[in-house]
Amino acid sequence: MTTDETRSAARRDLLRFLLRSPLLWAAAGVAPSVQARPELAVPASAGEALDVFQIERLARQKLGLPVIHYIANGADDGKTVQANRDAFDAWAIRVRRLVDVSQVDAGVTVLGERLPVPVILAPAGNQQSIHPDGELATARAARASASLMIASTVSNHSVGAIAGAAGPLWFQLYASPDRRLMEKLIRDAETAGCRVLVLTVDSNTRGNREGEAWWARATAGRQPPLPLGNFTGYDGPPRVGDMALTWDIIDWIRAHTSMKLVLKGIVTREDATLAAARGVDGIIVSNHGGRQEESLRATLTCLPEVVEAVAGRLPVLIDGGFRRGTDIFKALALGASAICIGRPYLWGLGAFGEDGVSRVLAILRDELKRIMQFAGTTSVGAIDATRLEHRVQGSHPS
Ligand SMILES: Cc1cc2nc3c(=O)[nH]c(=O)nc-3n(C[C@H](O)[C@H](O)[C@H](O)COP(=O)(O)O)c2cc1C
Repeated sequence: MTTDETRSAARRDLLRFLLRSPLLWAAAGVAPSVQARPELAVPASAGEALDVFQIERLARQKLGLPVIHYIANGADDGKTVQANRDAFDAWAIRVRRLVDVSQVDAGVTVLGERLPVPVILAPAGNQQSIHPDGELATARAARASASLMIASTVSNHSVGAIAGAAGPLWFQLYASPDRRLMEKLIRDAETAGCRVLVLTVDSNTRGNREGEAWWARATAGRQPPLPLGNFTGYDGPPRVGDMALTWDIIDWIRAHTSMKLVLKGIVTREDATLAAARGVDGIIVSNHGGRQEESLRATLTCLPEVVEAVAGRLPVLIDGGFRRGTDIFKALALGASAICIGRPYLWGLGAFGEDGVSRVLAILRDELKRIMQFAGTTSVGAIDATRLEHRVQGSHPS
């Protein structure tokens, strides 16, 4: 070795030593664990985020505790929230090889709505508590990616204002003992151009979300409450949640609107059969993201019995715990027509506003397309039960 070569080898060794030194990374403001595991990094911009978990981590750093609890809380001990996530691990994906996947189409049509990716933004109220632009930022992001958004009854902006910023928009209706209020909400949704009404049927009473309740009490009266856009100008009490609600509500709604009707919150074959018999147009298998009853039943576990009960008569959508493209792939394979996300886009909203919501949608689109390419499925129609293997029994779903 020449003297020059010896010198440059020594320099290389020194550099390697320094790069491994936690002190250097600490001086640069980067935690050593991040150096070893980039997925733990906190992205500085929406475009930098590798997955939706990074975006959640950043949002948790930016938002105050009351808002974090509002988004993250589940009922009781949060075990149903966890069950929703764990259920994906019960299924492994059976990939096929040597298929031309240079063109993959993740598009679907749901109740007349053509979506480039089967990911829908689930209704979530009070989004101005997360970002000053609230639902309008979400709507703009949805429109930019041709995604379908479902506006909540308890949004801060009115359904009309959201429709002005969104692409395709459905309206989520909470029942109220005050039918006059329900009539007004339905009328406003129709005027805003919504073609589908999503009736949430899991909310006759409020879930026991202790963190959220704690912070609501602790911060009460500190700042004026945010407006609820859909109640502005309504002269009655803005009460939602009707303990006396029964299946008869479907006929009542049918008599008041020609919008298509989807029930959100169906989780059993018995209720799916009743819903189909009543002629509803679609179902969302949902436990409200584990925020209502602490049932411990994951929505992915509920999906097959609902799909079987409706036997292709109406589309079955699902939400609860979707965080990866592979999660979406599994639900599609089990018969879902599309999936909805809640918390991921709310974390996106909290972290980066509109850009954060857009990034979440882009990440999930790219992840879904990637697993479709690996699995040899060039269209959503090709994703069927033969693509899954139950990890416990090692068998295919029938
Ligand atoms: C902060 C928050 C607010 C929500 N608000 C509503 C709502 O107003 N109406 C509704 O039907 N569901 C609401 N949901 C439930 C979501 O529509 C959806 O069912 C759930 O978030 C899906 O689970 P995920 O968060 O794990 O994706 C809300 C969920 C969250 C996290």
